Amino acid sequence: MRYSNKSALRMAAAVLALGMVSSVTVRAEDAKPANAELANKLDPNAKEIDDKVLAAAAAVKDDDGKYKDKAGDPTFHITNDGKKVDWFTYSGYRRYHAECHVCHGPDAMGSTYAPALKDSLKHLSYSEFMGILAGGKQDVSSSDQKVMPAFADNKNVMCYADDLYVYLRARASGALPRVRPGEKEDKPDSAKQVEKDCLGG
Ligand code: HEC
Repeated sequence: MRYSNKSALRMAAAVLALGMVSSVTVRAEDAKPANAELANKLDPNAKEIDDKVLAAAAAVKDDDGKYKDKAGDPTFHITNDGKKVDWFTYSGYRRYHAECHVCHGPDAMGSTYAPALKDSLKHLSYSEFMGILAGGKQDVSSSDQKVMPAFADNKNVMCYADDLYVYLRARASGALPRVRPGEKEDKPDSAKQVEKDCLGG
């Protein structure tokens, strides 16, 4: 009786110890390669880095070439000393210069008509951005009728809303300077499917 009690205790202690060790090991294994692979490798001379925005935008998950931050919002992935961008940053750059730059200026720098989105995205959340993009915005207090159009019915914008967000976020963090993205990651198959469904449906 005494003996079996003791051995049960020892067993429990061993299980406990094993459990603790193995859970630590699993966590270390999960974290290590993910961190190394998901970390941005920016141009060491990048000038306008906003540390706070950059930290919040850090990718913690790679969903088939679509990167997510710890809140689950889409984010960018820039590597090769700033020379290579993920597919969505590249796509967002192209969409921005097709649909937004006439008002918001090249490279999200702003114009006399509309604000610099490289600054707006320092404080706008993902959902706020989506709301403004779909619903538009009008400064009712100002006398000069400056209007952000609602794009809810424009598939060339709404099907690429995440792409635009990711590109503008990269600009706001300073991770992407005023350059045309060069190298890019391959277009993910999931992005091809989403695009097809969105444009076609
Ligand atoms: C016809 C001109 C025009 C076009 C095109 C346009 N915008 Fe705007 N946008 C504006 C104006 C003007 C404002 C400021 C509205 C206000 O504050 O009342 C604005 C505001 C915004 C804001 C809010 C900024 C802030 O600081 O609150 C976002 C986000 C935005 N636009 C995104 C976009 C995106 C993305 C595109 C391209 C898909 C786009 N806009 C295309 C004119 C435009």
